[in-house]
This record gives sequence, C-alpha cells and structure tokens, in this order.
Amino acid sequence: MSHKEIVLTGDRPTGPLHLGHYVGSLLNRVTLQDKYTQYIMIADLQALTDNADNPVKVRDNVIEVMLDYLSVGIDPEKTTIFVQSMIPEIAELTILYLNLVTVNRLQRNPTVKAEMQQKKYGESVPAGFLMYPVSQAADITIVKGTIVPVGEDQLPMIEQTNEIVRAFNRMYGVTIFPEAKAVVAKVGRLSGTDGKAKMSKSLGNAIYLSDDVDVLKKKVMSMYTDSEHLRIEDPGKVEDNMVFEYLDVFDTNKEKVSALKDQYRQGGLGDVKLKLYLFEVLNELLTPIRIKRAELAQNKDEVLKILLQGTDKVRKIASNTMDEVRRAMHLDY
Ligand code: TRP
Repeated sequence: MSHKEIVLTGDRPTGPLHLGHYVGSLLNRVTLQDKYTQYIMIADLQALTDNADNPVKVRDNVIEVMLDYLSVGIDPEKTTIFVQSMIPEIAELTILYLNLVTVNRLQRNPTVKAEMQQKKYGESVPAGFLMYPVSQAADITIVKGTIVPVGEDQLPMIEQTNEIVRAFNRMYGVTIFPEAKAVVAKVGRLSGTDGKAKMSKSLGNAIYLSDDVDVLKKKVMSMYTDSEHLRIEDPGKVEDNMVFEYLDVFDTNKEKVSALKDQYRQGGLGDVKLKLYLFEVLNELLTPIRIKRAELAQNKDEVLKILLQGTDKVRKIASNTMDEVRRAMHLDY
C-alpha cells in the first residue's frame, strides 16, 4: 500500500534551541516544508517525563521553541506546528502501543539508556521516562508520518517506532500505519563548545539561536581548540579543534577555511584571531534570526495563536486516526 509522504518531527521544550538543532534538523525542516505536508510537534509531555517537578519551565519554553521555529524560517503557512499535550489521542494511542513493547526492549533503547545514565536515575527511573519512545511512536503515527527529520541521536527512536508499527499492523491485520524514515542532516551531530560531547543544554556547552552578541562572543572566545597550542608561532592541531569543526560546518568560504587550517598547522595563527573570525561567521548567520526573534517576541499572543491553530488542525487528523485504530482493535462500541 502506498502512502503519501508526511513529515512529522518535534522537539522537547526544555530550553531554547541551539546550533546543534539548527544544523541537525531545523535546516532540513525548512527545506522539507516546500515539498511535503509537514507537522512539527512541541513535545511538552515528553519534556515532563524528566521535568515533572518543573512544569513552568516547560510551559515557558513552548513559546521559546515556537520563536526559534518561526525565526529560522519555518513558515506556519506551510508547516503545521502543534503542542503534544493538547492532542489527547496521542496519550490514548500510547496506552495501546504499550502492550506491544517489552520493558526489556525499552531498557535496551540506546538513546534512553544513555539518557538514564546521564541523569543518574539508578534504580529510580520514572516509568514515564522509560516509556517515552512508545509515546514518540504515537506522536509520529497519529498523523501517519513517513519522514522524520531529526538529529542522529534519534535514530533508535525511529527504529523502535517501526517495530511498533509492524507489530500493530500484523497483530490487528491492518495496514493503518506506514513505517517512517529518518532524515538525518549531513551534520547529524555538532560537538559542544567544550569539545567533549555533543552540543546539549544539559551539558552547558551550547550556543543558542537566541544568544545576544555579547554572549555569543564570550562563548566563541572560550571554545576548546588545541590545549598544546600556547604561543601564536606554535604549530597547532586542526583535528578535534572546535573552532575548525564549526568553521567547516558554518563558513561557506571553504577556501578561506582551508587557508586558515594551513596557517594554523604551520604556526603563526593565534587562537584569538581565529576565534574572532568564527565569531564573525556565526554572528552573520545569527543576526537576522535574532532580529526576527526579537520582533516576534513582542507579540507572544500572536505566536500562541499560531500554535493553537496548528493544534486544532492536528486534533481532527488525530481523531480520524483513532477511529481507525478503535475499529481495528474492536474498541468501536
Ligand atoms: N525525542 C525528541 C528529542 O528529544 C523530540 C520528539 C518528541 C520527537 N516526539 C518526536 C522527534 C517525534 C521526532 C518525532 O529531540
């Protein structure tokens, strides 16, 4: 059975979005909206699975993430943006999916596993957190998503979604749900400014789309380069040097980057000069985004309205999907 391509993706509103999101998924979404029907979900319920004690933070960040989307060029005329908690059908579908998944399989999900370690839950993993991949499968399938533009770390989620889709279709003898394909950007993972891990809010090594000029400059000037490159005239290492990693990603002037690398390797190019150059490159990228964001932030009511309109639209689709599910599962009393 053929399905037309439907893009569904989302983010947890635990903070504003950063450059890792920008290269990992936002750019792809801006492109995909011209080709396909695209939905972007703000995953406030998923955010609560590890922030149950901080609902106000989650709520505030729903609007921050909206501002990020709109300021990078996600166009609400082309993309339907909605908020997870206002689609109760997602919660309903999650409950039904939970019977098709084992606890053991969830514990082996590499993304969940890594996050559980990072959060040091030990034996006290919230059940809602452990099962969030199942709820993510419901997010994707409630609109019958076939394309999911995300960062590399989300690949295990798509795999698990497809297992659930296959199990559901097989068990109930239907073809309601299509399998989904992940679309990962060329830069699926951007390192943090500290060079030690991926860029992430919880690791404190992120550059946000909303950072002002001074903050941006401070973050760039303290980026990890080559700890043995002490004097300007010393030869320096380009590999695992965050400034060069970022230049490779963000500077469109490849010849210039290549010349800077040569000079750095030979010696004679100081970190301060190099970082000031990266600062200029990033500031040029972020200035229009920052201006648009500040403009939108003046009118948060309007931004909220866009979100609620998108949510209304998805509610109808979700209700139709649940009708099909109820029929398939003999729950259509
Ligand atoms: N888990 C994703 C993240 O942490 C957010 C997310 C929730 C999502 N539901 C989704 C991504 C559905 C893609 C599809 O970034």
